[in-house]
Amino acid sequence: ASTLGASAAEKGRYFGTAVAANHLGESAYANTLNTEFNSVTPENEMKWDAIERTRGSFSYGSADQIVNHAQSRGMKVRGHTLVWHSQLPSWVGSLATADLRSAMNNHITQVMTHWKGKIHSWDVVNEAFQDGSSGARRSSPFQDKLGNGFIEEAFRTARAADPAAKLCYNDYNTDGVNAKSNAVYTMVRDFKARGVPIDCVGFQSHFNSASPVPSDYQANLQRFADLGVDVQITELDIEGSGTAQANSYGNVVRACLAVSRCTGITVWGVTDKYSWRASGTPLLFDGNYAKKPAYTAVLTAL
Ligand code: XIL
Repeated sequence: ASTLGASAAEKGRYFGTAVAANHLGESAYANTLNTEFNSVTPENEMKWDAIERTRGSFSYGSADQIVNHAQSRGMKVRGHTLVWHSQLPSWVGSLATADLRSAMNNHITQVMTHWKGKIHSWDVVNEAFQDGSSGARRSSPFQDKLGNGFIEEAFRTARAADPAAKLCYNDYNTDGVNAKSNAVYTMVRDFKARGVPIDCVGFQSHFNSASPVPSDYQANLQRFADLGVDVQITELDIEGSGTAQANSYGNVVRACLAVSRCTGITVWGVTDKYSWRASGTPLLFDGNYAKKPAYTAVLTAL
């Protein structure tokens, strides 16, 4: 097929992108999105600070714009993200334990219920582990007050709220085999053994010269898949340009396709013009929406 989404669909996968609601009115942006992609992830609009800036008061407007745009064009939607230490309003961190627990569960329930049946996969918990060799949990209001059990509790609450959605744990620097991915692996294995509801693991896959595509990327995806979960590449971007960047993108796509439970790839933006990595050119379309060598490499690999 001649587009990313259609080619991925022929392989039983989706090919998605992060989308920002405030760019949907730009015709080149919307045309590229509508032509090439068949899944979207709101880049910021479903985060806690966007949806529940004040306790108990929920604003779904900008995320709804993206969901409606996607649904009316037959695209799938990934939900990102319910429980995360970042882009978290300060009121959450000020709550005492019992209150924090009910605020977390209420947030999950309200948000998932609002889009019930419309989200194919939810990042229920994002980035709960530290970088480095410790394999420890990251400090956050949830970790510090609720303890290790917060992740399990979030997943149980999420399953009850929208039983049809795939529930994912999502993180970065877990793309290869290392101490951090080992810690996530141990958690997922424990969840599967005890019947804690988890369906998928998201690998953000933000790569650059200091953190290139790992040589054991495919093997790492496969070992998670072998635990009985789907794996998804959720926020792919690769700094660089030209042939080197294209080769890296091709390697990522081939790794996913080689793992039967790798169900889809999402790049973290449509165009270099709006990449969160402002200094770089990490995406498939340049600032003028022209297809880059990386685009061709992805399409060829699909
Ligand atoms: C980023 C967005 O792209 C930026 O616009 C925002 O300012 C900060 O967050 N890991 C994640 C994503 O899970 O939500 C982050 O997105 C990038 C890193």
